Amino acid sequence: RKAVTLPSLMAQRAAGDRIAMLTCYDASFAALMDRCGVEMLLIGDSLGMVCQGHSSTLPVTVADIAYHTASVARGNQTALVVADMPFGSYATPQAAFDNAVLLVQAGAQMVKLEGGLWLADTIRFLTDRAIPVCAHLGLTPQSVHQLGGYKVQGKTADAADRLKADALALQAAGAALLVLEAIPAALGKEVTALLAIPTIGIGAGPDCSGQVLVMHDMLGTFPGRKARFVKNFMDGQSSIDGAVRAYVAAVKDQSFPAPEHCF
Ligand code: KIV
Ligand code: NA
Repeated sequence: RKAVTLPSLMAQRAAGDRIAMLTCYDASFAALMDRCGVEMLLIGDSLGMVCQGHSSTLPVTVADIAYHTASVARGNQTALVVADMPFGSYATPQAAFDNAVLLVQAGAQMVKLEGGLWLADTIRFLTDRAIPVCAHLGLTPQSVHQLGGYKVQGKTADAADRLKADALALQAAGAALLVLEAIPAALGKEVTALLAIPTIGIGAGPDCSGQVLVMHDMLGTFPGRKARFVKNFMDGQSSIDGAVRAYVAAVKDQSFPAPEHCF
């Protein structure tokens, strides 16, 4: 496979070829996911929960993300490597840039930040300085204390309108990709139609340009609570390769997410 790039992701979007993304935290899984056709590997701050055993993503540091990003980058050949900016690491545009540089130097090709309109200046600051940005709207787990738990977002007309306005503003600021987490499937479809950049859904319905899941969730190995949007792709498989290939195939043929995974 040729290397996945921002232009190739745009071409996939235009062709209706769904983008398959998974979280990844080490070199062996990076090599596995790359050979199984996963287009994007996300070093998610979910590592705080699935690798470190914390009850939220808030304790994760830039050094933690950089460590796992470097490991993933060594194992990967062609997938696009996206690193989460952890809680507190992008409070100002300058801080975001300084921390994003560390993640790019560790091997990230793009960084992901959680938040709406307030992030527009930061996204402009990063993209003006050659750091591609993935935005993240809907359920943003770093805001768990403000949200009062891990709940579906964008359910009222007001909240849906705000999310759509945020999405347009972040795209205008230079975001090249948008993750949509835990929103009604109908809103995921609307936002995807509204934007020119690809959307990647996790609990955002089947009409996003692509899908993402946490690796430990889709392999059935996370011992904690299982969100509605999670599917265990190890079911019926005898290897992790098989499960990851089944995930990629299900994203491509749009059998995942099914109605029971959607809000
Ligand atoms: O940290 C993470 O794993 C994420 C995905 C769930 C999108 O941000
Ligand atoms: Na994250």
